[in-house]
Amino acid sequence: MKKIIIIDGGPRKAMNTAKMLQHFADGAQSLGGQIEVKTVRLYDMDYKGCMSCMACKIKDRASNVCRFKDALTPVLEEIAQADGLVMGSPIYFGDVTGQMRTFLERLAFPWLSYNDYSMTAPKRMPVLLMETMNGTPERNNSQHYGSMEYCIASALGQPERLIAYNTYQVKDYSRFELAGFSEEAKRQYRDTHWEEDLQRAFDAGRSMAEKILA
Ligand SMILES: Cc1cc2nc3c(=O)[nH]c(=O)nc-3n(C[C@H](O)[C@H](O)[C@H](O)COP(=O)(O)O)c2cc1C
Repeated sequence: MKKIIIIDGGPRKAMNTAKMLQHFADGAQSLGGQIEVKTVRLYDMDYKGCMSCMACKIKDRASNVCRFKDALTPVLEEIAQADGLVMGSPIYFGDVTGQMRTFLERLAFPWLSYNDYSMTAPKRMPVLLMETMNGTPERNNSQHYGSMEYCIASALGQPERLIAYNTYQVKDYSRFELAGFSEEAKRQYRDTHWEEDLQRAFDAGRSMAEKILA
């Protein structure tokens, strides 16, 4: 059976990023269960970024899957065989979370050849990069997936992008020191966009599944 791996790079299990990814998964499985979808929660795992061990670049035994052994090893091996990959993260200080960045180091360094600077993954596949943030389409500080986007595009294929802007950071703004945000403006934005964002996530899942099964 074809498989999509979803990497959840956010810490909160029931908030914006997790919900968007769940809707993506529902969309991918809406074609009668022809696609297996597995979600990996990075914050539940104990793993390191690239250790610079260079095991992936040993002469005549180079590997485009990371050889360092920890909790991420089986995930990276599964991605190498997968048919689609989704990464989702909240934006923290303009970037994806540290956990997502750490994961991406392990995913991408083995792709890079220092012989000719090419980037080769074991397999090309559809990729979606998802973000949630406080920023709006007009005013945001997201660097998206930064320099990793070039690596992903070269090795796996041009990724699609899905962004949920101006999310609710907390359920009840009155309980927190968050005077820099107008709860009323947040509510208005959410009322007009959030269901649409979730629908776009569902549609993106369905569309990736259709692409894989075509
Ligand atoms: C440590 C931290 C840093 C953040 N930095 C930004 C930022 O630079 N830009 C932004 O638009 N939102 C920022 N946010 C808001 C989150 O990206 C936003 O609330 C996101 O939707 C949270 O995702 P979650 O609900 O899945 O946890 C930050 C939130 C936290 C906790």
